[in-house]
Amino acid sequence: MTDGKTLILGIESSCDDTSAAVLADGWLLSNVMASQEVHRKYGGVIPELASRAHQQNILPVVSQALVQAGVSMSDIDAIAYTRGPGLLGSLIVGTSFAKGLAIAADKPMVEVNHLQGHILSHFIKVEGRDNTQPQFPFLALLTSGGHTQIVRVDDYLNFTILGQTIDDAVGEAFDKCAKMLDLGYPGGPIIDRLAKEGDPNKFRFAKPHIEGLDFSFSGIKTSLLYFLRDQLKEDPDFIEKYKNDICASFQKDLIDILMDKLVKATKQTGIKQIVAGGGVAANSALRAAITSEGEKRGWSCFLPELRFTTDNAAMIAIVGMYKYQAGIFCGLDAAPISRAADYKL
Ligand code: KG4
Ligand code: ZN
Repeated sequence: MTDGKTLILGIESSCDDTSAAVLADGWLLSNVMASQEVHRKYGGVIPELASRAHQQNILPVVSQALVQAGVSMSDIDAIAYTRGPGLLGSLIVGTSFAKGLAIAADKPMVEVNHLQGHILSHFIKVEGRDNTQPQFPFLALLTSGGHTQIVRVDDYLNFTILGQTIDDAVGEAFDKCAKMLDLGYPGGPIIDRLAKEGDPNKFRFAKPHIEGLDFSFSGIKTSLLYFLRDQLKEDPDFIEKYKNDICASFQKDLIDILMDKLVKATKQTGIKQIVAGGGVAANSALRAAITSEGEKRGWSCFLPELRFTTDNAAMIAIVGMYKYQAGIFCGLDAAPISRAADYKL
């Protein structure tokens, strides 16, 4: 069944999800994930606990990905793994495992930039689904817990960052808001859910004024903090009474900031192929905003399936496939790169 096809094993361990996937010529054969519940009670990812959990999960996750795909290591053409950016301890687990497996099974290795993975997740082909793919060049709005960028993509391996956050990522703003309201972690999905019951026009927070296509989310976060502090002085039950409205209003402001810059980027570049990626691309209001703006402005919009918005190894394997086809491999001396700024997109 997989004869003559390019088989890539992908391994992802950049944050708190351990994942392994197998693709055959870009078709998804398996995508196994182990999410780490241990961080929930701390209200955020604890790096040391994340790397320990990766160590426990990685072997069973990779084995399961091979079994589910119905292949063995000898069928695999290359091992693609996340080299960065991410938590150093987490990246070390995936990187070391990929290296060990590459030596043991005598397979070439392909290093993958996690952010390229989020962007190219739209090229994963899934049986029984419409697999229409974006046309180059396209603009990617990449929004996650660690990153917020608008990227121009001219080819599978040709990326240019047009704008990015100068401080916090938008996912961080969602998570911090949830923390201030004592809603739990990760905050994004909870805010998304509560916002559906709230009035998005009830409250307004301070919007940033940033030149060009860059973003800033630290000011609006502080604006929410002071707003809550002042309101709680007047009424200690304020959060309880207006929880849904605060979520809906804060979420609306975050999305307006993203959409302003996205519209600006399409006007500047003339590009109307729009791709969303990263954890925050799961947000229902952001998806609705991209879709409705797209209908108004004649964009072709690509929103990832929810399972491909969050960190997963299928997106690492798809980048691995394009690099494999281009003959781009890495050696055993490739160390993890933690910071996005140190790892060229
Ligand atoms: O891409 P991702 O899984 O990990 C990183 O690479 O950072 O993104 C995680 C982020 C978290 O901040 C989480 O709160 C946010 O994505 N997120 C959401 C939603 N689902 C996940 N934010 C808003 N709405 C959602 N539905
Ligand atoms: Zn991610």
